[in-house]
Amino acid sequence: MSSDNNNNSDTLSAIDSRTGKEYSLPIAHDTIPATKLREIKVNDDDFGMLSYDPALKNTVTCKSSICFIDGEKGILEYRGYPIEDTASKGTYLEICWLLLYGELPLAAELDMFQAEISAATYAPEDIQKLHDVFNKNLHPMAMLESALAALGGEFDDIDDVLNAESRHQQIIRLIALTPVLAAMGYRHRNDLGPVEVNTELSYSSNFLHMMLSRKGREDEIHPALEKAMDALLILHADHEQNCSANAMRAVASSQVNPYSSAAAAASALHGPLHGGANQAVLEMLNQIESVDDVPAFLESCKNGERRLMGFGHRVYKNYDPRAKVIGELAANVFDVVGHNPKLDIARALEKAAIEDEYFSSRKLFPNVDFYSGLIYSAMGFDSRMFTVFFAVGRMVGWLAHWDEMMADSSTKIVRPRQIYTGYGRRDWVDSADRK
Ligand code: CMC
Repeated sequence: MSSDNNNNSDTLSAIDSRTGKEYSLPIAHDTIPATKLREIKVNDDDFGMLSYDPALKNTVTCKSSICFIDGEKGILEYRGYPIEDTASKGTYLEICWLLLYGELPLAAELDMFQAEISAATYAPEDIQKLHDVFNKNLHPMAMLESALAALGGEFDDIDDVLNAESRHQQIIRLIALTPVLAAMGYRHRNDLGPVEVNTELSYSSNFLHMMLSRKGREDEIHPALEKAMDALLILHADHEQNCSANAMRAVASSQVNPYSSAAAAASALHGPLHGGANQAVLEMLNQIESVDDVPAFLESCKNGERRLMGFGHRVYKNYDPRAKVIGELAANVFDVVGHNPKLDIARALEKAAIEDEYFSSRKLFPNVDFYSGLIYSAMGFDSRMFTVFFAVGRMVGWLAHWDEMMADSSTKIVRPRQIYTGYGRRDWVDSADRK
């Protein structure tokens, strides 16, 4: 939905065949206010009409000025700036500022923001101790989800969620510390010892450094890999009302602290239909031994045995613009680290799927997750880390939505309705009489 192209007088007329009564519903932004449906009643005792939309496929839940998507045309913009420009011309922290505060930062604003982030990039000791007790085989998203919730408990100033200044403080901490938590999980799983922070480095370079540095070894991060990580974080930074942003908003509507809401958002992201798809794509590519096996694999997706992971999107019915940028990034990274035959399989899979009637008739195209895993894998990371990287980039999007909704005086606790399909009132049956 974009800006309002309706007149104040635009209305939708509806006749209720049960009563013959006619209703007029106001139209704004090409939507009708759902609560107006409640005026449609059979009699005075009737609760009123509701709308049924289990996956929120056709329901607008908020007004937002952060991110714009035109799924039919394959357009994505952050505060009006096309994703192609933000990914190639911006740095991740610049884009964080843009998403949070609406404008590209002035040099002094960016300096101040960077200094605030650097100062907050030191995790409380308890959070390292928490990682020390995790089973090393635990999925790193499970570690991140737990650590985000625990992090909130480390600060005693997190509950003033209606106060803009306090929100800013939590936003700084969460952007600064999410990569630290991700690195803690990575190092714990790989027996690499505690994280060492280097705030002299850029955000993305420090993130790679925190994961990859080894005691007594000063490895430089290759600039092409730093650029690729920064661009990937930008490409994942926000995507309007996706499953995890919706989780963030729904949980935060109870006015709980943002660490708990972010833990819930990360949990939503973990699923294979959402951010977990990047891990699933690599596992899928590992199952396909060569380009010759692509047609048979595609057949198994078409006959419903499996989904082609990294393909399809609820909103994009055209090429996901993020996938286009990531496809180009992959080529740059493989120039540095050497060619990976999995890239040939992915390209063959993409070409065959796009030319196939099953996928074209359903408007299924590669999404952001199709190539991203190949890049992370080329950087030397195992597939279980991929969704964690998605979460690090997306944290700012979750926080921008949180800040926007908490500043909006019309925000209310999210509480949907249901169609009850269970028993009517029944008499209690004593234990001895149960059959
Ligand atoms: N492979 C094979 N068939 C598919 C796929 C796929 N990846 N995606 C959708 N379809 C078919 C589906 O079977 C259905 O066919 P039919 O009409 O014959 O029943 C039709 O396309 C519509 O699918 P849907 O499940 O109703 O669509 P949805 O909007 O509910 O689901 C989706 C969107 C992303 C969950 C789905 O496309 C999917 O499961 N894709 C694979 C997982 C994936 O890559 N997820 C990452 C999404 S992008 C990153 C993010 O933002 O999270």
